[in-house]
Amino acid sequence: MSIRTLDDLLAEGVSGRRVLVRADLNVPLDKQTGAISDDGRIRAVLPTLGALVEAGAKVVVCSHLGRPKGAPDPQFSLRPVADRLGELLGAPVHFATDTVGDSARSTVADLADGQVALLENLRFNAGETSKGEAERGAFADQLAAFGDAYVDDAFGAVHRKHASVYDVPARLPHVAGRLVLREVEVLSKLTSEPERPYVVVLGGSKVSDKLAVIEALLPTVDRLLIGGGMCFTFLKAQGLEVGTSLLEKDMVETCRNLLERSAGKIMLPVDVVVADAFAPDAAHDTVRVDGIPSHRLGLDVGPETVAGFAAALSQAKTIFWNGPMGVFEMAAFAAGTRGIAEAITKADAFSVVGGGDSAAAVRALGLDESSFGHISTGGGASLEYLEGKTLPGIAALEN
Ligand code: 3PG
Ligand code: MG
Repeated sequence: MSIRTLDDLLAEGVSGRRVLVRADLNVPLDKQTGAISDDGRIRAVLPTLGALVEAGAKVVVCSHLGRPKGAPDPQFSLRPVADRLGELLGAPVHFATDTVGDSARSTVADLADGQVALLENLRFNAGETSKGEAERGAFADQLAAFGDAYVDDAFGAVHRKHASVYDVPARLPHVAGRLVLREVEVLSKLTSEPERPYVVVLGGSKVSDKLAVIEALLPTVDRLLIGGGMCFTFLKAQGLEVGTSLLEKDMVETCRNLLERSAGKIMLPVDVVVADAFAPDAAHDTVRVDGIPSHRLGLDVGPETVAGFAAALSQAKTIFWNGPMGVFEMAAFAAGTRGIAEAITKADAFSVVGGGDSAAAVRALGLDESSFGHISTGGGASLEYLEGKTLPGIAALEN
């Protein structure tokens, strides 16, 4: 891989130079209070920012948050992130209330060596996500004017062909930050000769989101364990009734076909927790998968499934996990996700957790992050990497 790194940039000397850092500070916010509910993505970018501060750069950080529609929208402001970043860095972060306007220009101009600024949400500007090359390019020109060099440390966004990810590096000397390097290093271990058995656990709600990665992984893995909302479409494909569980009807045939081609590698739940409603206090019971009542919906995998999956995981030497096994945010339906997470930590294997939800689950369930080999900051990005796709943000660094 012919990518220049942060160390190359530091070796050139960055004291007094403006360094534009694309980070992925897209953290989950509490729906009621707006507070940051998981700051993992902020902490993940500290090694890069700390090194630049230490070296005396003027550090200009930019990121997206959520999916605002190309115009300012206060609920997606990065201001709380600036405050948290400042606490973690131990120095105030200068916040610009726009991305490339007057506030951004004066904030960047006023930076002293070793200080950090955060620009307001990139997606408050239509140019960031535009499909039009010219519109994206015009926005990238404005962003690039804030840096003498560019560092991409936004692993979670490298699969997006967006101005700050794809077009800015074409306009400035560019390098990969520490987080991007570490993520690529770890994920490449999974795509090139993983130690076997290689066991993948997939959950989450939709088969359609995971179809490409299932197709790509089937020939490579030794076992593919499927839980979460998506398991019901597979169970249906086996001819079982799934009640009012999540079901993607137009994917049933695809799942049947995958099961036929999987040579027994795919393991599905044998029992599930079914409830009367999608609610934390709904009445619920554990049933065999061939006994799901027509009026109830499955919200977690059952204990026998956890035991079976855990047995497969205990044999593994390499594990990749993406997607919760159930609605772990509700205590009544968290046991499946917790059980799988614990089985992964107990296995004598190199384990990678991918995806915002699974990473958040690990922390929300109070599990020790250090007992996993690597917790990726990328959801879609890590899946697309494993699919073998060209990621626009990585390709842009290679040029
Ligand atoms: C993510 O949360 O997966 C990344 O921050 C990318 O966000 P996006 O899916 O809205 O592009
Ligand atoms: Mg996403």
